[in-house]
Amino acid sequence: MPLLRVEGLSIRFGGLAALSDVSFDVADGEILGLIGPNGAGKSTVFNVLSGLYRPDAGRVTFDGGSLLDLTPHAIACRGIARTFQNTEVFRPLSVLDNVLVGLHSRLRGGLLGAAVWSRAVAREERAARERARALLARLGLEDVADVEAGGLPLGRQKRLEMARALAAEPRCLLLDEPAGGLNPTETRALMDLIVRLREDLKLTMIVVEHDMPLVMGISDRVVVLHYGRKIAEGKPREVASDAAVIEAYLGTEDDA
Ligand SMILES: Nc1ncnc2c1ncn2[C@@H]1O[C@H](COP(=O)(O)OP(=O)(O)OP(=O)(O)O)[C@@H](O)[C@H]1O
Ligand SMILES: [Mg+2]
Repeated sequence: MPLLRVEGLSIRFGGLAALSDVSFDVADGEILGLIGPNGAGKSTVFNVLSGLYRPDAGRVTFDGGSLLDLTPHAIACRGIARTFQNTEVFRPLSVLDNVLVGLHSRLRGGLLGAAVWSRAVAREERAARERARALLARLGLEDVADVEAGGLPLGRQKRLEMARALAAEPRCLLLDEPAGGLNPTETRALMDLIVRLREDLKLTMIVVEHDMPLVMGISDRVVVLHYGRKIAEGKPREVASDAAVIEAYLGTEDDA
């Protein structure tokens, strides 16, 4: 049984079929690359998986249970976390506080607990800070823990967004264009980081990415979308030499 199963997913926005009958599985511990030209429906898949969009048809099963009637918060609690294509850190907060926001959704005390100050809450708070610092170290951000997040260069903001997503201790992480805007050196380092995170945290991941060397280099399998339909699926090498895939990408270049 795969960890995540997507079956017959369809969603329309007015006259536009953003996804049409899309199905794929993700095995536990797998890195699945999700690629396709602009507007193919990649982010829409993430928006459905994280509960932001409700599909018109189809099923999503995670760890044996349906996700479709759950709120985004409930889906996060089930163990799916994501980052956004347009990086969304809390700019005025420190880097550390950005991660603590992600952690607090998991703390027992919550807001009420924080209001009713107690030794237990203080202990929990201290543990949360330690965990947040450990996460920052894992993502190479320990030196900027106390810096205002909005002042970080884009590459580090993207890592911070990953740290915040990981604070929720997900089993499955959805990364939407993690290398967008990064230079080749940063992209290389990011590839290594993603692979290391999978090993260290036993994560399952779906990575949406336009950087082909990155996505082909880290993915166990790749699913290709084009105009909302799945046109290919397989090992990176198979997909890269698939005629329909080459056609889809060349077609986009011609249009541009
Ligand atoms: N909330 C929405 N309302 C209307 N149209 C939408 C909405 N969300 C997505 N779309 C449309 O659905 C299609 C798929 O969009 P999506 O963002 O999933 O593409 P994508 O593959 O992520 O593209 P990109 O590589 O440019 O990020 C596009 O035509 C987009 O304009
Ligand atoms: Mg997108």
